[in-house]
Amino acid sequence: MVTKTEKTPISIDEMAAFCRKRGFVYPSSELYGSLAGIFDYGPLGVELKNNIKKEWWKTHVQQKEEIVGIDGAIISHQKLWEASGHLSGFSDVILECKKCKEKVRGDVFIEDQLKISTEGLDVKEINKITKENKLKCLKCGNDFKEASDFNLMFPVHLGANKDKTSIAYLRGETAQLIFANFKKVVENSRLKLPFGIAQIGKAFRNEIAPRNFLFRCREFEQMEIEYFIRPDEKCPFINEVLNHKIRIYSTEMQKHNKEDKEMTIKQALNKKIIKNEWHGYWLAHEHKWFINLGATSENFRIRQHTKEELSHYSSDCWDLEYKFPFGFKELQGIADRSDYDLKQHIKHSNQDLSLFDEKTGKKLIPHVVAEPSLGVSRAFLVFMFDAYDYDAKRDNVVLKLHPKLSPLKVAIFPLVKNKPPLVKNAREVYDSLKEEFNCLYDETGSIGKRYARQDEIGTPFNITIDFDSLKKKDVTIRNRDTTKQIRIKIKDLKEVIKQLLEGENLSKFGKYIN
Ligand code: GAP
Repeated sequence: MVTKTEKTPISIDEMAAFCRKRGFVYPSSELYGSLAGIFDYGPLGVELKNNIKKEWWKTHVQQKEEIVGIDGAIISHQKLWEASGHLSGFSDVILECKKCKEKVRGDVFIEDQLKISTEGLDVKEINKITKENKLKCLKCGNDFKEASDFNLMFPVHLGANKDKTSIAYLRGETAQLIFANFKKVVENSRLKLPFGIAQIGKAFRNEIAPRNFLFRCREFEQMEIEYFIRPDEKCPFINEVLNHKIRIYSTEMQKHNKEDKEMTIKQALNKKIIKNEWHGYWLAHEHKWFINLGATSENFRIRQHTKEELSHYSSDCWDLEYKFPFGFKELQGIADRSDYDLKQHIKHSNQDLSLFDEKTGKKLIPHVVAEPSLGVSRAFLVFMFDAYDYDAKRDNVVLKLHPKLSPLKVAIFPLVKNKPPLVKNAREVYDSLKEEFNCLYDETGSIGKRYARQDEIGTPFNITIDFDSLKKKDVTIRNRDTTKQIRIKIKDLKEVIKQLLEGENLSKFGKYIN
C-alpha cells in the first residue's frame, strides 16, 4: 500500500536531525556532551527498531523450519575471542599524528582525501599511499607516525580482581555465541543439515572513526544467521529465487571499472558470476526481505568482495549494498566462513563439536556456507531513507513507512475537542483499538495539523470522529499516502484495520468521500 512518488533526497546529517527532532534517535549522553558512535532510540525509534527486528525474526526464524534462534550473552570469555581470531585479527589501521596525536582510521582518511577505494588495504599499503601522496594531519598539518593495527574489541573486567585473568570482552559480533553454543542447540532442537542458527543482539566495536550517524556505531545490534551445510551440499531452495532480479557488481566488473548490471539470479549463476547457489539464494532472499517491507529495489545492489577484502575466515563474500546519500555501502555481508570457526573452537576448547551425519554414517564438521549478517541500525536507515518524502503540496514530510514497520498504526481524533460527545466517542474507539494496535489519541490543534503530525512520523491511518459519526455510528479513516478517506462502521473497524495493515486498499471497504 506504500505509494511512492518522486523522492526528496536528504543527507545523512539531515536524517539525523529529523530523527532527533521527531523522537526516533538521540545522541547518547547528550546532556554531557554525547559519545561518538553511541545512540539512544526515542519513543518512535524504539517502536520502529522493534518492528524491524520482529519482521526479521518472523521471516528468518519462525517461517523457516530449518532455522532456530538463540539469545547469547553480551559479555563473553576472553578465550572465546582468542579462538575466533578477534583478539589478534579484528582490527582497523590507525594513523596517528606525530605532533598533535590526532588519530584517524587509515582507509577512511585516504578514501576521503584521495577519493579512491580503500577496501581491504593493510598497514603496509596504507603507509605506502600516505607517504606517496604526502598526506598530513588535517588538524595541525604534520606527518603521521607509521600506521599500525588497532584492535576493535572492548575489554571489561569481571568481578573485584583487576588482572589479566579477569578480562572478558563485549562481543564484537553475535556470530561467535552461535558457534560457542552450536552443539547444545543442535542437540536440543534435533537439527539436521542443512540448518541455520540465528540471533539478534548487541555488538560492540571500538571504531576509530564512527560516522554517518547510525551507519557506523560503536554500540549496535546485529541480526545474524550462521547457515550450516555438508561441504558441497546443494541448495534445495534455489528455485524460489531464480527469477529474482538484482543489480550485480562482481569482482570482474570492479576490476575493469564497469557499471553494475541488473540480472536475474539464474543469469548470474549461468554466467558463473555467482558461483555458489547458496549465495544466490541468500542474497536474493535478503533483498526480497527489504522489498517486501517497502524498500525501493533499485537502491540495492550486490557486490562481491575482492580478494584483498576477504576477512581472515572467509573464502567468498558478497555484500548486499544500499545507495546511501554518501554512496553505495555495505548493508549486509553474506560470507562463506567454511568450517573455520567450529574448527577454531574445537582446537581452543578441546571439545568435540562435530556432528554425526545420519546420511553418511560419519562424523563431520559442517561448513558455514552463508552468514547473512545485517546491522539493525543500517536497516533502520534504509527504511527511513526510502520512506522519507517531503510533500510540497502538503508542505510537510510524509514518512511512507510500510504499515508493518510504522511505529504507530492508527491515530484517533475527535473532530474538535470542545464537544464532549465527540471526545467520548473518540476515546471509546481508541480504547477498543489499543488492545490490538499501537494507537494514539490526539485532540490538540486543528484536524489538518493533527494529520500532518501523523504523516510526518509515518502513521498509515488516521481515524476521525465527526458529527455524522454520532448519528451513523461510524468514523472517517484516512490513508497517509493518498490522503483519501472513506467512512467505516465502528463495529467493522478492527477487521478493516487488520486488512489495511496487511496491504489492502482503502477503496475495498467503501467509497472515497474526498
Ligand atoms: N559476523 C559477521 C560480521 O560481524 P561484519 O561485516 O563485520 O560481519 C555484519 O558485520 C554487519 O553488521 C554489517 O554488514 C553491518 O550491517 C553491521 N555492522 C558492522 N559494523 C557496524 C557498525 N560499526 N555500526 C553499525 N552496524 C555495523
